[in-house]
Amino acid sequence: MNKKIIITGGLGYIGRVLQEECKKEGIETIVIDNNLYGLAEKDAKFINCDLLDKERLDHILSTQREEADTIVNLAAIVGDPACLVNTRQALEVNCVGTRNLIEVANKHKYKIIHASTCSLYGSENCSPDKPLTEESPVFPIDFYGQTKYQQERFVRELANDYCVFRLGTAYGLSPRMRYDLVINLFSAKAANGETLSVFGGNQYRPFSHTRDISRAFIFAYKNNLSGIFNLAGDNETIKGIAEAFETKYGTKVEKTNLIEDPRNYIASSKKLIDAGFKFEYNIEKGIAEIIDFSRGIDYKEKKYDDKKLMEINQIDESRILITGGSGRLGRACKKIFKKAQYPNREEMSLASNDSIDSYFNNHKIDTVIHLAAMTGIPNCENDKEQAYDINVNGIRRLLDASKKYGIKHFIYLDTACVFPGTDDETMENEDSLPYPKHYYGLTKYIAEEIAKTYNNPEMMVTITRTNFTSMPWEYPKAFTDRYGTYLFAQGVAKGLRDIVKEKPQQPIIHICGDKKISMYDYAVAGGSKVEPMTLEDYKGTPLTKNMSITSKYWKLYRLEDSDFRDE
Ligand SMILES: NC(=O)c1ccc[n+]([C@@H]2O[C@H](COP(=O)([O-])OP(=O)(O)OC[C@H]3O[C@@H](n4cnc5c(N)ncnc54)[C@H](O)[C@@H]3O)[C@@H](O)[C@H]2O)c1
Repeated sequence: MNKKIIITGGLGYIGRVLQEECKKEGIETIVIDNNLYGLAEKDAKFINCDLLDKERLDHILSTQREEADTIVNLAAIVGDPACLVNTRQALEVNCVGTRNLIEVANKHKYKIIHASTCSLYGSENCSPDKPLTEESPVFPIDFYGQTKYQQERFVRELANDYCVFRLGTAYGLSPRMRYDLVINLFSAKAANGETLSVFGGNQYRPFSHTRDISRAFIFAYKNNLSGIFNLAGDNETIKGIAEAFETKYGTKVEKTNLIEDPRNYIASSKKLIDAGFKFEYNIEKGIAEIIDFSRGIDYKEKKYDDKKLMEINQIDESRILITGGSGRLGRACKKIFKKAQYPNREEMSLASNDSIDSYFNNHKIDTVIHLAAMTGIPNCENDKEQAYDINVNGIRRLLDASKKYGIKHFIYLDTACVFPGTDDETMENEDSLPYPKHYYGLTKYIAEEIAKTYNNPEMMVTITRTNFTSMPWEYPKAFTDRYGTYLFAQGVAKGLRDIVKEKPQQPIIHICGDKKISMYDYAVAGGSKVEPMTLEDYKGTPLTKNMSITSKYWKLYRLEDSDFRDE
C-alpha cells in the first residue's frame, strides 16, 4: 500500500489532477508520458517515453517495480476530432500502445487501472429510469470510441490484474486545461459573455468531474478493486446543460435542430457507489469553478484543444531528407524520423552538384536536415582540403539545390565546438560569439555563416548547435573535470523533431541538456563502465575544459529523457 503509482499520460488533463489528488493522499507518483503536445512545464518531473517504444517501456517498468505496483493508464489520443487528424497514429497509440503496456505490465506483475470511456456505449436505447450498466452491450459509433473499445478489450482479455473505469465526458479545472470538452467550453463562453450554440441537444451524456475521476482511481488502488465500473457523476442532455447556464448566468443560447453528435447514453454508476465510492461533484458546482477561472482567458488558444494540438503535430516525414544517415546522429534520427529519406553516398554525393540535383529532382522533399560532415578534430587538421570540401562546399551545394527545388525548411546541425571551451564557467548561448579553436570548428562555423545567407521567407534556415557523443563511451577512462550540457544522440534527434514541428523564428537554436555534467558522469549515465581521470593525468595536446551551451530561445532537454541504447 505504500508503493508509488505510475501514471501513463500523466501530463494530460486528467493526469495532472490525479497527480494532485495522489499528493493530497500522500501517494507518490511516477509519470510516464511522451509529452506529445510539448505542454510539459520546464521543471515537470516525468519519464519521457512513448508507449509505442516497448523496449524502453520494459526497461522503465522493470527498474520502477521495487517502488511501484500499480499503473493508471491514461495515455491516449483523446476524442474523435483529435483521433481523426491522424487515424493511423490514433490506432497505434490507443491500441498498440496499450497492448505494449499490458504485456510489459504483466511481465513485471503490475496492476492496471485503465481509463476507458462511456463512448463505448454508442447510441443505445436507454432512459433515465433504464440507464446503461456495465453489462449493457457496447457499440461505439465514432472512431475514437472504436479505438477505446479495442483498447479496453486488450485490458480485459490480456491484463492479469486490472480495473477498468468507463468515464463520462470529463469536466472541471486542471493545471493542463482543456476547453474542447463541452462543459468546460460552455463555461468559458459564459464567462466571456458569449452565446452557446446547441445542435439538437436532446442527447443524454454522462459527465465526470476530474477530481471525482482521480478520486475513483485512488479508491480503486486503495481498495484493490477489479473489474469494470462506470464512472459518471451526472447524466444530462446538452440542452439541459445550456439551459442551466441560461437560468443561472443569463447566458444566451442558440438552438438549432441539426443533430451534430448522435451519441446518446445514460450510464449508471451504481456498481461503483455500491462498492463504497462517493461522488463529490455535480455539474453545477463544477461549472461555478470553471466560470470563475475562465474569465478573460483566451479559451480558443491551441494549447487548450487536443485536435488543434494534433494538427500542429503532424509532419509528413516522408518529405524530410536527412544527410549523414549512417553517422551517430543519423542512426538515432532513424528511430525518431522513421519514414524520412536517408540517401547514401551513391544515391546523393555532397561532393557533386549533379548528384544532389538529380536526387532533389527525383524525390519529393520539403525539409532538409543536414547532419553530414567530416567530424573529429584530428581528422580535419590532417586533411584540411577534404574537411573544407565536405563541411563548407558540401553545405553550399545542398543549399543551392534546396533553394532551386523550393525546400521550405533547411536545418543545419552545427556543434558546440564553434566555441573555444577554455573557460570553466561560461555557458554559451545563441547570442554568444563563436570563436573556433581548431579547423573542424572553423569549417563548421563558416558553414553556419553561409547557411544564414540563404534564409528568406520562402526557405527558413535554422542553425542548431548541440553536443553529444555515442554510447558506449569509446575510451576506458573519462574526465571528471571536463564539462558539457550533453545529450544522448536520440535526445538531439528529438530536439530536431521539435524544431521541424515548431519552426522557431530564431536563426540559431541550441539543442542542449539542462545540466552541466562532467564527461565521466555522462559516460556513466550512458551505461558505460569507465574509470575516472582528470586533466592533470593527461599529457597530450591542450583540450577544451567546458563545452557547455545553453539556450535563450528554446527549451532545455533532460539527458534522462532519451535512451542512450537507441544509438
Ligand atoms: N477527457 C475526457 O473527457 C475523457 C473521457 C473518457 C475517457 N478519457 C480517457 O482518459 C485518458 C486521459 O484523457 P485526458 O483528457 O487527460 O487527455 P489528454 O490529451 O489531456 O492527455 C493524454 C496524455 O497522453 C499522453 N500520450 C499520448 N500518446 C502517448 C504515447 N504514445 N505515449 C505516452 N504518452 C502519450 C499525452 O502526451 C497526454 O499527456 C485517456 O485515455 C482518455 O481516453 C478521457
